[in-house]
Amino acid sequence: MNYHIVTYGCQMNLHESEKIAGILREKGYDRESPPEDADIIVFNTCCIRENAENHAFGNIGALKQLKRQKKGLLIAVGGCMVQEEGKAKLLKEKFPFIDILFGTHNLAELGELIEKKRAQRRTVVSVPEARDRLEDGIVPVRTSYPNAWVNIMYGCNNFCSYCIVPYVRGREKSRRMGDILSEVRSLVEEGYKEITLLGQNVNSYRDESGADFPALLAAVASVEGDFRVRFMTSHPKDFSAELVAVMKKHKKICKHLHLPVQSGSNRILSLMNRRYTREKYLGEIALLKREIPDCEVTTDIIVGFPTETEEEFRETLSLVEEADISSAFMFIFSPRTGTKAAAMEGQIEESVAKERLSRLIELVNGKTREKSAKYVGKTVEILCEDRDEKKGLYLGRDEYGRMGYFESPENRVGDFVRLKVTRANGISLYGEVENL
Ligand code: SAH
Ligand code: SF4
Ligand code: F3S
Repeated sequence: MNYHIVTYGCQMNLHESEKIAGILREKGYDRESPPEDADIIVFNTCCIRENAENHAFGNIGALKQLKRQKKGLLIAVGGCMVQEEGKAKLLKEKFPFIDILFGTHNLAELGELIEKKRAQRRTVVSVPEARDRLEDGIVPVRTSYPNAWVNIMYGCNNFCSYCIVPYVRGREKSRRMGDILSEVRSLVEEGYKEITLLGQNVNSYRDESGADFPALLAAVASVEGDFRVRFMTSHPKDFSAELVAVMKKHKKICKHLHLPVQSGSNRILSLMNRRYTREKYLGEIALLKREIPDCEVTTDIIVGFPTETEEEFRETLSLVEEADISSAFMFIFSPRTGTKAAAMEGQIEESVAKERLSRLIELVNGKTREKSAKYVGKTVEILCEDRDEKKGLYLGRDEYGRMGYFESPENRVGDFVRLKVTRANGISLYGEVENL
């Protein structure tokens, strides 16, 4: 039998879809296929912004026809959107052809839900309030070789005023360091070349034995083998000198920090409940660059937060300059029902927010281009990830996350390749391989 999974949202969800695939294989769905040929279609949804939800709604709705034509096709919808208050009910009413609805806390139960559905006509709905078991037992079907994602913690305690994640993912729960290390060791033995440690707020990792994130990161980077380590996401309020010291000491850790700032204005940061100031953020970047001068910083920014003034928006622009940001994910504030910010007075008009976003994108893209251009003539190490058939080139990433493209007569996927950069375009570098 065949399966098809549609994933929305962050790396966490991408990795969870790998676990979903693992469960499906156990239930006899042994091949991935296009939706038309699938016996089960699973949607793994996101609700971080309204457009993420709209996409999912559109695509689930579009399956009505297929479901009618194909007897026995199962449709399951899970993930963050299903966990939102009232959404499971709404989905069930709007799309009665959905067979299974499951929340974020019971991924491990999906196999049992499929069994249950096979035995009954009604939609099976299971959206528990909190997680009762970690998903440590599930063997994921990894689809991102040579990169492997490893969860180190689940959930978030921060309640940034705009964010729905704490409501749909629950409270922070860290995995045991020993379990994480044995997962990393076996991935490296299997030949994975890049390990990305995942959590909504990795800096607040703490396991039962009291191990914190710098200790975990150092231990992961000390595992023997030829691989590199990334982690995301870090929160500026929990950033520490120990983290910088570990990054500096261990060559395997990429010299890249993704540190979402959200805004450059202290008043907005406080309304966002971010619990740091512009000055603290800039101080952290200064420390990082003093210790590791060639480290690059990327960030996330929200524009058009309720009551944000033109002046305050300009503080975000100037922060991008001062912090020497290499690239950023940039968003227009999207009110999420149930969060504090959604109910705040002073919501910003869409036209104003859009105009701010385009000015910000222009600034950030300029910085990205400027930084990429500096690599022309230099040699960078790329981990080859894939082949771009359209371009007829292999591609990979350097430790900063920049894409590198090159020609090769042989398949180099999974190899560290030394690329002499001949041309730069936006975040992409093009070049010739030195170690063919
Ligand atoms: N845990 C991570 C980020 C999770 S969500 C962190 O704290 O940094 C990824 C990004 O989506 C956030 O950094 C933020 O920039 C953006 N985001 C979250 N909620 C949003 C909302 N309601 N509207 C617009 N952007 C949002
Ligand atoms: Fe959301 Fe803030 Fe938690 Fe990140 S730290 S997931 S932005 S509440
Ligand atoms: Fe990720 Fe979206 Fe959920 S960003 S945690 S999939 S709401």
